[in-house]
Amino acid sequence: MEEIYHPPVLLKESIEMLKAKEGGIFVDATLGGGGHTEAILKANPENRVIAIDRDEEAIERAIRRLEPFGDRVSIYHANFSQIGEVLEAEGVSEVNGVLFDLGVSHFHLRGERGFTVWKEQPLDMRMDRRQKLTAKEVVNELSERELADIIFKYGEERFARKIAREIVRRRKVKPIETTTELAKIVEEVIPKKLWAGRKKHPAIKTFQAIRIFVNKEFDEIEKGIPAAAEFIKPGGRLAVITFHSLEDRLVKNILRNLEGFRVITKKPIEPTPEEVKQNPAARSAKLRVAEREV
Ligand SMILES: C[S@@+](CC[C@H](N)C(=O)[O-])C[C@H]1O[C@@H](n2cnc3c(N)ncnc32)[C@H](O)[C@@H]1O
Repeated sequence: MEEIYHPPVLLKESIEMLKAKEGGIFVDATLGGGGHTEAILKANPENRVIAIDRDEEAIERAIRRLEPFGDRVSIYHANFSQIGEVLEAEGVSEVNGVLFDLGVSHFHLRGERGFTVWKEQPLDMRMDRRQKLTAKEVVNELSERELADIIFKYGEERFARKIAREIVRRRKVKPIETTTELAKIVEEVIPKKLWAGRKKHPAIKTFQAIRIFVNKEFDEIEKGIPAAAEFIKPGGRLAVITFHSLEDRLVKNILRNLEGFRVITKKPIEPTPEEVKQNPAARSAKLRVAEREV
């Protein structure tokens, strides 16, 4: 059976920005379905890719896809904040470019780990299933104050306090077990006139916030990008694709403050209307790139 892969976002643009045609060693810090890795390997027959993902299932699928490239690709089950250890294990001290394609993949959204408001599933949201903390624990065990802060900080949800209060009231009666239960609570709190008839589910921001917290996504970005920067050769590039405004703001600031780097995307690169038409999930993607000064 043919596998359906995560459609890689801003593919041509990221390969170009990484100067992958010129040849060298590249790190794909977020392997996912392997679409970007495959394109880097195809861009030049001399290219090598060291790829990282924290999701074992993603890795299993990508291994099958990347088999034809043999030892030109090495794959690690790790967090990208561990890039230093990964490169040490590979015996590599300098790379030509590193790509981060942040967030969840198509597989996560189509899978069964409760990443989406649209399907009834257990509240899990872990990208790495070796991790203990799940969304169910976050929703059922954190204090009202902690929940409100998370939903506000990582979801920019103005009804965060009310949502947290209602979650705590409900869970006293019965633990909140599924995505649908959580989504309904949020639906009841946010005034209907603000979401009725729109495509976006009112619980999307709350789900985003809990997912970011469960996976410590911002800690990973704050550690991973500067750690990757240390290994980039003069003239080499760091390319980061983000999917929502909070993530983009964070990345923009990190890149701007990297010593010895120059941000070469004054404005982030966005997908063309054709790409969005073919892959609506790409619509909010932004690519930012920094280059190590020579
Ligand atoms: C948007 S997908 C990448 C898709 C990939 N570029 C492709 O073409 O198929 C993001 C991937 O990064 C992984 N990921 C997210 N945060 C991570 C982290 N901190 N460390 C390692 N992998 C991470 C996720 O498990 C997911 O598979």
